[in-house]
Amino acid sequence: MIRDMTQFGKVAVVMGGWAAEREVSLNSGKAVLAGLLKKGVDAHGVDAGRDVLDVLRRENYQRVFNILHGRGGEDGTLQGALDVLQIPYTGSGVMASAITMDKLMTKRIWTGSGLPTPAFEILTPESDFEEVVEKLGLPVMVKPAQEGSSIGMSKVTEAQQLKPAFEKAAQYDAVVFAEQWIIGEEYTVAMLGEEVLPPIRLQANADFYDYEAKYVSEDTQYHCPCGLDEQSLNALQTLTRTAFDVIGCKGWGRVDVMRDNMGTFWLIEVNTVPGMTDHSLVPMAARQHGLSFADLSVEILKSSLQAGSAE
Ligand SMILES: Nc1ncnc2c1ncn2[C@@H]1O[C@H](COP(=O)(O)OP(=O)(O)O)[C@@H](O)[C@H]1O
Ligand SMILES: [Mg+2]
Repeated sequence: MIRDMTQFGKVAVVMGGWAAEREVSLNSGKAVLAGLLKKGVDAHGVDAGRDVLDVLRRENYQRVFNILHGRGGEDGTLQGALDVLQIPYTGSGVMASAITMDKLMTKRIWTGSGLPTPAFEILTPESDFEEVVEKLGLPVMVKPAQEGSSIGMSKVTEAQQLKPAFEKAAQYDAVVFAEQWIIGEEYTVAMLGEEVLPPIRLQANADFYDYEAKYVSEDTQYHCPCGLDEQSLNALQTLTRTAFDVIGCKGWGRVDVMRDNMGTFWLIEVNTVPGMTDHSLVPMAARQHGLSFADLSVEILKSSLQAGSAE
C-alpha cells in the first residue's frame, strides 16, 4: 500500500471530453476526484476540451488520471499526446487503447492467439446476407466495430432482419460485423494491476445488456460473488487475464464475457477506461475484494507510476 500521496505530484483527473459518453465520464470523474482527495492526493478535476493539452502544461500537472470514456480519451489519441508531453497517465498505452476501441480488431487478436471469441462476419452493402446467416446461424448480434454503450447494435433472429440491422449499425461506423449470438450467462471481469478482481454476473431484464439496461433500468441484477464453482471461476479469471494481456492492456480495465449453456466462455470485448461511478461494475468488484472506492482510485492511479506509460 502506498501511504505517501505526495509521490503522485499534482494530478489532473481528466474527464468529460467530446465523445458520446461525456455525461457518464463526468460522473465517473467526479467520483474519482472525491476518492483521491479523500486519500490526500493533490488531485484536480479537468473537463477536457480540445485545449486539454494546453491546460495540462500551463497548470504544470505531473500526472493524469484518465477517466475519459470512448473516442478521444479511451482510444489511444490522448495517450499518444501525453507520451509526447512525457506526462504519465493511468491505464493502457497507445496500442492497446486503440485496438480495444475496435471490437473487430480485438477479436482478430484473440482469434490469432487461439482465444475463444464468437464467430463473426464483416458486413458491407455488397454482403450476401443469406450466406452470412448460413455461416453463423441465428440469432446473430450486429455491431458497429467502434461504438460503445450498445449504440447501433441489434439482435437479429430472422434472416430478413440482417440487412436493416446492418444499415442501422452503418450509421455509427464504417465497419460493421455480425457475431454469433451466445445463449447463456453474461460476466464481466475487472483487472487491477496484476490482480484479477472477483467476476460479476449480469442479469439484464432485457434481451441483452443494452443502453437502457446499463444506464436507466433498475431491473438489471448484479451478482458478485458470481456463483460459479471454483474450477469455472479459475477458468474465467485465467481466460480474461490472458485476453487482457495478449492485447497489451495495462493498469486496469474490464473484460466482457458470455458463457454458453455448455459452460464454455466466449470473449466479447475489453473496456480500458470503464465506468467509475458509485454503482459502476469495477467499484462493485473492488468492494468484494475489500477495496473501498477511494482505495480503488489510488490503486488505479498507481498504474501511472509503471514504465510503459510516458515515464
Ligand atoms: N455475441 C453475443 N451474444 C449474446 N449477447 C451479446 C453478444 N455480444 C454482445 N451481447 C450483449 O450485448 C451487450 C453489449 O455488447 P458489447 O459488445 O459488450 O458492447 P458495448 O458494451 O460496447 O455496448 C453485452 O453486454 C451483452 O449483453
Ligand atoms: Mg460491453
